[in-house]
Amino acid sequence: YGDYNQKIDYVFKVVLIGDSAVGKTQLLARFARNEFSVDSKATIGVEFQTKTLLIDHKTVKAQIWDTAGQERYRAVTSAYYRGAVGAMLVYDMTKRQSFDHMARWLEELRGHADKNIVIMLIGNKCDLGSLRAVPTEDAQEFAQRENLFFMETSALEATNVETAFFTILTEIY
Ligand code: GTP
Repeated sequence: YGDYNQKIDYVFKVVLIGDSAVGKTQLLARFARNEFSVDSKATIGVEFQTKTLLIDHKTVKAQIWDTAGQERYRAVTSAYYRGAVGAMLVYDMTKRQSFDHMARWLEELRGHADKNIVIMLIGNKCDLGSLRAVPTEDAQEFAQRENLFFMETSALEATNVETAFFTILTEIY
């Protein structure tokens, strides 16, 4: 069914954060349009896309915001987090540093977002299993300690992408 003429019961804003090149834009492209691009450009400023889905017989419009991981391209932080009810904290499981930075991203998130925001830790690029630099257990432990949901995904192979977004939206709901 089309997007117009449709009664929307809820609009949920979810923000994507994490280092540059971990795959935030491609996770969003996979979720919103079922697309993937190998030569994805660095995000400049802020972009968002929406997808409407049914949760428990209610129409939920997910408004997913994507911003630059690179400091110099980032837009005003407080505006980005304003009104967000969910956040996905994304690292690249083949880049240890992107995982080590999760604590800093979490700190920024908690400093700006609503206290009740639902947060999910995402280890992306699980299709590159042989290059793994972050053991699942390390991420699980971090997620448990910080009270986050956790999932490993691949935007390339579409592994767990729908599940991750659906889980966070259902949790928000
Ligand atoms: P910024 O916009 O700079 O913050 O980067 P980003 O986090 O949005 O990364 P982006 O989605 O642009 O992806 C960066 C690179 O990783 C691109 O070359 C993507 O094609 C690639 N990539 C993204 N997701 C995956 C994945 O699941 N698997 C593999 N193998 N590559 C991926």
